[in-house]
Amino acid sequence: MKRYVIDEPGPQATLRLEESPDAIAEAGEVLVRVKACSLNYRDLMVLRGSYGEIKQPLVPLSDCAGEVVAVGAGVDGFEPGDRVAGCFFQNWQAGRLTKDVYGSDLGFGQPGVLCELRVFHQHGLVKLPRYVSFVEGACLPCAGLTAFNAVVPHIARDRTVLLLGTGGVSLFALQFAKASGASVIITSSDDAKLERAKANGADHGINYRTIEKWDDEVLRLTDGHGVELVVETGGAQTLERSINSLAPGGHVSLLGQLTGKATGVNVHGLVYKGATMQGVFVGSKQDFLAMNAFVPQLNMAGLIDDIVPFNEAPRAFERIASGKHFGKVVITTDQSSR
Ligand SMILES: NC(=O)c1ccc[n+]([C@@H]2O[C@H](COP(=O)([O-])OP(=O)(O)OC[C@H]3O[C@@H](n4cnc5c(N)ncnc54)[C@H](OP(=O)(O)O)[C@@H]3O)[C@@H](O)[C@H]2O)c1
Repeated sequence: MKRYVIDEPGPQATLRLEESPDAIAEAGEVLVRVKACSLNYRDLMVLRGSYGEIKQPLVPLSDCAGEVVAVGAGVDGFEPGDRVAGCFFQNWQAGRLTKDVYGSDLGFGQPGVLCELRVFHQHGLVKLPRYVSFVEGACLPCAGLTAFNAVVPHIARDRTVLLLGTGGVSLFALQFAKASGASVIITSSDDAKLERAKANGADHGINYRTIEKWDDEVLRLTDGHGVELVVETGGAQTLERSINSLAPGGHVSLLGQLTGKATGVNVHGLVYKGATMQGVFVGSKQDFLAMNAFVPQLNMAGLIDDIVPFNEAPRAFERIASGKHFGKVVITTDQSSR
């Protein structure tokens, strides 16, 4: 089978395509033919060496969907022909995050999924909802689940959510917020993307390039009240304005570092507003199954930016690096995966 690897991460690093022996499903394992993989901002950081040290060579990417080809002895939940997705954290079954979960993340702690065949432990897989294509399903494990956990437990009907930028997590968050009956304010560097986000359900758009004090604009749009929830994908340069945008009693789901890690940021505004802030780190398999019940309410097609064939995978990384994407960039091993 073919797979891509990263030999040496760095600012100019590229992927290398290689032949590797076909994997075999041992006891408790499931062999999956990967049909589609999606990229997250993290995958670009891993390639460029800014995410941390990898075990070289590393198969990149955490998110895939595919079809079960074979199962090992003792596998009871899956059979050949099942449509499945891998869990971002292979060891996080349910409940709170615990120390033993670390290092079980695909595409960094563990070999990733940018390959034609991959073996998973049965605990690290979920079945795809029937109505979701492989391309759509490949977007769920990280971006989908992170957005689900950032939004759904923290928002109610008639409340307002602020989303930063039009990347994969934000556009999933837009879908979950609208499905929850909330209003959405979204920011972007690009007016055309803001129009696209409105066509996908956003109620208001703010260009953060032309409106530097976008937090003031959020307050204006909400008649001085502020938003009940911010999905904080920005980090260092956005967190303080995100807190300024909050309504009293609001919540920040803190998860991103698009502008660097949020160190040295003044978070005192949380005190005055009696607001809460909680980190989100993707989620567990149990969360993934809970999200799947929500997925029929989403317009998944609206958040796919581009679909790139497997043999042109480096182009998918270039698309993310360009910042021109709107939502998810997907790699397919098979043109019928849509
Ligand atoms: N903690 C977790 O579990 C978790 C999970 C997934 C992702 N993340 C993090 O969340 C962030 C987003 O990830 P992603 O995969 O959705 O990224 P992505 O799809 O690559 O999206 C990047 C987008 O972010 C926007 N952006 C860049 N700088 C911005 C700024 N200063 N203010 C507002 N928006 C800005 C841009 O939108 P425009 O082009 O519209 O300006 C850009 O297209 C990353 O930091 C990632 O590491 C964390």
